[in-house]
Amino acid sequence: MLSIMARRAYNRKTVINFHSMPPAVPTDRLWLRRFRFSDARPLAEAVGQSLPELSQWLPWAQGLYGVSEARTFVKSSNRSWRRGRAFDFSISMKTEPGSVVGGVGIWYTSRIQRSGEIGYWVRSDLTGIGVATEAAEALLPLGFEELGLHRLLMRIAVGNHSSRRVAEKLGFSYEGIAREEIMIRGKWMDHEVFSLLEQEWASRNPR
Ligand SMILES: CC(C)(COP(=O)(O)OP(=O)(O)OC[C@H]1O[C@@H](n2cnc3c(N)ncnc32)[C@H](O)[C@@H]1OP(=O)(O)O)[C@@H](O)C(=O)NCCC(=O)NCCS
Repeated sequence: MLSIMARRAYNRKTVINFHSMPPAVPTDRLWLRRFRFSDARPLAEAVGQSLPELSQWLPWAQGLYGVSEARTFVKSSNRSWRRGRAFDFSISMKTEPGSVVGGVGIWYTSRIQRSGEIGYWVRSDLTGIGVATEAAEALLPLGFEELGLHRLLMRIAVGNHSSRRVAEKLGFSYEGIAREEIMIRGKWMDHEVFSLLEQEWASRNPR
């Protein structure tokens, strides 16, 4: 067991650079941007119209989701950014910069072990055109280069074929099943675990 002091020293040495996380990232078609309070209304609208799909897989998307819930989310997301714990981005189409078409985030699961996880959602009327894959792909360099991760995970509920395809398209390897890891609508569900390691990332992206 590391003492708290040793752990802090270790963290300083190994985990790295999260203050340099960029607040906005462009991709070919998208803007990923740190959430701000003006996103609350379009965020609530996007989640609201997508609840039948989102609520199947995401524990936070249960019941009503209005502007007040969206504001609470933006506040807690900004707090996590400030503390260097988790980095959520709103996704908008470049053609409509004020819109929210989804969310994507990356966070540490263990700083000491340099592991992290990616999660995402896309509004239901814009699925199937590659938005989640494009957005999640843009977070890979941030995970490995800014956060200094060794191992990046995706945990996907069994049966969520669309999300599984995102992991596969990004070259994550299937590891196995984490049994009954998440409760959704009162039911325990298994997670499929996918991972990408820093050496796999580096070999695909030689400097
Ligand atoms: C999973 C999710 C993020 C995928 O978003 P997306 O932008 O549609 O993803 P992509 O377009 O990059 O592709 C994923 C795959 O989903 C499938 N798919 C998704 N929506 C589809 C649609 N409307 N029609 C046909 N295929 C669709 C396709 O198989 C596609 O793979 P392909 O390119 O090989 O055909 C989105 O469906 C969603 O938000 N689901 C609810 C929340 C969720 O499950 N989040 C992930 C938790 S782990």
